[in-house]
Amino acid sequence: MNTTVDTIVAPDSRKACQAAADVLRDTVRAAVASVGGASLAISGGATPRGMHRLLARPPYVAAIPWGRLHLFWADERLVGYEDPASNYGAARADFIGSLPQAPGGVHPVPVHGDGKAMALLYEEEIGKHFRQRDHLEPDFDGVFLGLGSDGHTASLFPASPVLSEQRRWTAAVRGGEPDVERVTLTYAILNRARRIVFLVTGESKAAVVRHVLTDASPVLPAQRIRPHAGRMTWVLDRAAAAMLENID
Ligand code: 6PG
Repeated sequence: MNTTVDTIVAPDSRKACQAAADVLRDTVRAAVASVGGASLAISGGATPRGMHRLLARPPYVAAIPWGRLHLFWADERLVGYEDPASNYGAARADFIGSLPQAPGGVHPVPVHGDGKAMALLYEEEIGKHFRQRDHLEPDFDGVFLGLGSDGHTASLFPASPVLSEQRRWTAAVRGGEPDVERVTLTYAILNRARRIVFLVTGESKAAVVRHVLTDASPVLPAQRIRPHAGRMTWVLDRAAAAMLENID
């Protein structure tokens, strides 16, 4: 395993969102320059919305080759896309719906059915996308994740049986806030990404950030995110980084 880990600490949450948007832009541009297209998985929750809103505005909107970008989701709540809890619905409102050029592909998690069936459908959709690019195993160019105060990421919750899934790329799961049925990507696909970015802000996350980044025994779900042959970047604001030592 050969993972590079770096940490960016921004003075406040707005600057952290900007730093994460910079990484997203650079990840897309690098993938497009090297293989002609980029595949990203993004997350829901409140934190990424600040970054998402920047993407449809200058300078990001003109700097991202939207037509070459395929967007997927690291997890989704099984509610209608119009529901305020929908991760796809939020991203559509925050940037996808107001881009001057539609992305090359937008692949929301299907939500009209039971969790297991939706997870299988999403796995097929992901497999089809990467097979068309001659990748037998999916390897996202970038995965953008958040962190819950209990150490969950995507919809990988503590003590969930899904944490031991090693073969399937997607799984149905229940939990989180809101406590609804969800579909999540699993470690089996997340850790194949070329780059994983955690965006975490606010003092309510300071303790869990410290735990995830400094506790050697990986007990929290986010601690098992480790791109096998890629780079992992933590983008924090000062409040979320407050309990880390040796970080300004
Ligand atoms: C979800 C998420 C989830 C989220 C964290 C942090 O859809 O619930 O993808 O993993 O990233 O719960 O959420 P906040 O940014 O709202 O704190």
